[in-house]
Amino acid sequence: MRQIRVVSVIGTRPEAIKMAPLLIELKKHPEIESYLVLTGQHKEMLDQVLESFKIEVDINLHIMKSNQSLTSITADSLTGLEPILQEIKPQIVLVHGDTTTTLAASLAAYYQQVHVGHVEAGLRTGEKYSPYPEEMNRRITGAIADWHFAPTNKAKQHLLKENITEASIIVTGNTAIDALQMTVRPDYTHPLLEKIGNDRFLILTTHRRENVGEGMRGIFKAALELLQTFPDLHIVYPVHKNPKIRAIMEEMVFAHPRLHLTEPLDTIDFHNIAFHSSLILTDSGGIQEEAPSLGVPVLVLREQTERPEGVDAGVLKLVGTDTRLIVESAVQLLTDPIEYEKMTKGINPYGDGKASKRIIDHIINVFKVVQKEEEFAK
Ligand code: UD1
Ligand code: UDP
Repeated sequence: MRQIRVVSVIGTRPEAIKMAPLLIELKKHPEIESYLVLTGQHKEMLDQVLESFKIEVDINLHIMKSNQSLTSITADSLTGLEPILQEIKPQIVLVHGDTTTTLAASLAAYYQQVHVGHVEAGLRTGEKYSPYPEEMNRRITGAIADWHFAPTNKAKQHLLKENITEASIIVTGNTAIDALQMTVRPDYTHPLLEKIGNDRFLILTTHRRENVGEGMRGIFKAALELLQTFPDLHIVYPVHKNPKIRAIMEEMVFAHPRLHLTEPLDTIDFHNIAFHSSLILTDSGGIQEEAPSLGVPVLVLREQTERPEGVDAGVLKLVGTDTRLIVESAVQLLTDPIEYEKMTKGINPYGDGKASKRIIDHIINVFKVVQKEEEFAK
């Protein structure tokens, strides 16, 4: 078999975390010549992940600017990717999820008439602006992609409803679970965990564009109220690098001995610290997939989720950004052991840790057929 030339394009922290197991696996296959291209939509938060998973980068476009706009991410990625794809001439470009890097890389591949494989395909809320711009990024990527690696059956159903051919949809599980299997360790320790000791702690993360502003103010008020309600509760809050978020945080959040503000945590630290937490409050997508595997309940700080499987399994609860609702839901979980137990005992609906293998097996099988057809046609 001739080697299959694969270019993976990523730009942000979550893409790097969930593509890491796949990128590592791609390198193990002699049938594959694998290149990793970064748009560099994120910088420090992306570098952290690449370092944790020891992933080598072939090309980095370094596009990140402070307070960047969606237009600049898209335009700079498209312009930067064109000559790279023309030079490497891949048979397939792999993209992940729903960031603006995902959209731009799919479009760049389409312009070069290169096949696109979409990892984590088919997630939908059905609401054009929720999350914004991710819902449209993934819909457009879905329209361009040739192979759709759907994490769940629900995701597959969304794609079928959009008239995507069934043969091009492969249900694989989410590679987030593959990544967790590489990071969580029973003997893990961290100075933060030692400082908190035997007290309980919850983790807070927030970064969604639609929450920047009033939503985040509601979330921060709730966090501070919870600290006042429970004298034994700590909050660990790794603050996203977005300057707009930091400005709101600085305006709202005061110093408190049980509030631990940190820079974004390294993935291995985040996964292990999350494993030891009692509760997670987040508007993140990826954390909604990871927490059920860690047995930690999640209050989702969003009006809609494209990950309803966890809500159905009883391990995620949608609470939005209203201070009252967040506080009431957290108080109930932290005071009612039966309710709490229910949210920790759900089945993880997002995967079994073998998604990367399924994706690569499919790519190899498809290209075996393509190459046979090409030889036959000669
Ligand atoms: C992006 C994705 C979002 C994903 C999130 C993961 C888009 C439109 N949004 O949102 O889907 O959930 O990443 O975190 O693709 N910054 C730094 N250093 C970094 C990263 C960001 O300084 O390492 C700052 C920069 O000022 C940058 C800003 O954060 O301009 C916002 O980054 P951006 O990628 O535009 O948006 P996110 O909210 O991170
Ligand atoms: N994460 C991390 N460090 C942190 C916070 C989160 O490594 O301080 C990881 C988390 O485990 C998950 C991913 O980042 O895998 C989620 O990224 P984010 O919330 O930025 O984006 P989303 O998933 O919403 O697109």
